[in-house]
Amino acid sequence: MFDLEKIRQDFPVLGERVYGRKLAYLDNAATTQKPLAVIDKEREIYEKCNSNIHRGVHKLSNLCTEMYESARERVRSFVKAKSASEIIFTSGTTASVNLVAYSFSEKYLKPGDEILVSESEHHSNLVPWQQICFRKGAKIRMLPFDEEGCLRIDLLDELLNERTKLLAVAQVSNVLGTVNPLDTIVKIAHRHGVPVFVDGAQGVQHADIDLVASDFDFYAFSGHKIYGPTGIGVLYGKERLLEELPPWQYGGDMVSSVSFAETRFAELPLKFEAGTANYVGATALGEALDYLDKLGRDKIHAREMELNDYAFTALSKVPGIRIFGTAKDKTGIASFLLDGVHPADAGEILDKMGIAVRVGQLCAEPVMRHYGINGLVRASWVFYNTYSEIDALIEGLDKVRKMVLD
Ligand code: ALA
Repeated sequence: MFDLEKIRQDFPVLGERVYGRKLAYLDNAATTQKPLAVIDKEREIYEKCNSNIHRGVHKLSNLCTEMYESARERVRSFVKAKSASEIIFTSGTTASVNLVAYSFSEKYLKPGDEILVSESEHHSNLVPWQQICFRKGAKIRMLPFDEEGCLRIDLLDELLNERTKLLAVAQVSNVLGTVNPLDTIVKIAHRHGVPVFVDGAQGVQHADIDLVASDFDFYAFSGHKIYGPTGIGVLYGKERLLEELPPWQYGGDMVSSVSFAETRFAELPLKFEAGTANYVGATALGEALDYLDKLGRDKIHAREMELNDYAFTALSKVPGIRIFGTAKDKTGIASFLLDGVHPADAGEILDKMGIAVRVGQLCAEPVMRHYGINGLVRASWVFYNTYSEIDALIEGLDKVRKMVLD
């Protein structure tokens, strides 16, 4: 079944001590830890075959090229895209959003047009769209969320109109943990002829993705949030949309011919991959996806749901706590405040107890503004976390209250 002790041994950092105490790593929404398979793969490539891809005629270069293109196919099968041409490797979700924001706006955005973005977005799925709108004389509009942290999809029909060129929305909010009802959102947007960009950074690691069935127009995620390395990410786009978009960055590997008179660009997906790609990161990301599939994604999901029940029940009993984001469908993200306690103080005291959480505005100032607060404490857990680590958090919060309030 789910041998947690054995699984935890796959993630060496989970056994570390900080300040002489056992680490309770509850900052998984910021980044996840890496299994040995991922760490070993990176080391193996650098030790045994490192060589630049798509350019060499020699053995090692061909090996690395094969690994990179296999990783692309691995990602394709993981997210069930139609074709590997639709999978672009980037440095992460932020780069994926910027790529589409610049390229899409270059082609389609005119003064007076609108882009609709949800109020609960991480800055990385808001600021690129906002800046592009400023530059093009277009307007950014907001899809608000309610007090539970659920998007007001009842307003979608009103907010989408003939000027709307794109809707950008997260699969899961990095603050509220809400799993957004993308099926409904995509259907409504498409009824208005509006393409949808989905930021999957907080979602891809928790749910099965089927990009054909879900009909997202664009989808982005980061390797480091799905147990892979940092510096590698994915942009998916429907082939017909990607075909029409101009390249965002120019350079080597994204061209088919160059003269001083003109440049012809490479076919998809290389058209969007200028420069030396992160072939080591992409290959190691493939290992992370294999690891998850071997564990069993349904088992991972079931385990995370159990942890959710346990953690939210325990947290709701903490005196003076206010949890932000109380939607029914949530991932393992709990953002909260303790009455009379500054989040930074809570974070510092928890840290000294070996408990890693994130505090502050969580790269989502509009969410803070919605609630009229300056920051939050966020604990986030995944399948490898234990009930004892949740207990440690609860005890830690008790200590925080005593130290700050008594
Ligand atoms: N996007 C990451 C977070 O929400 C860094 O913490």
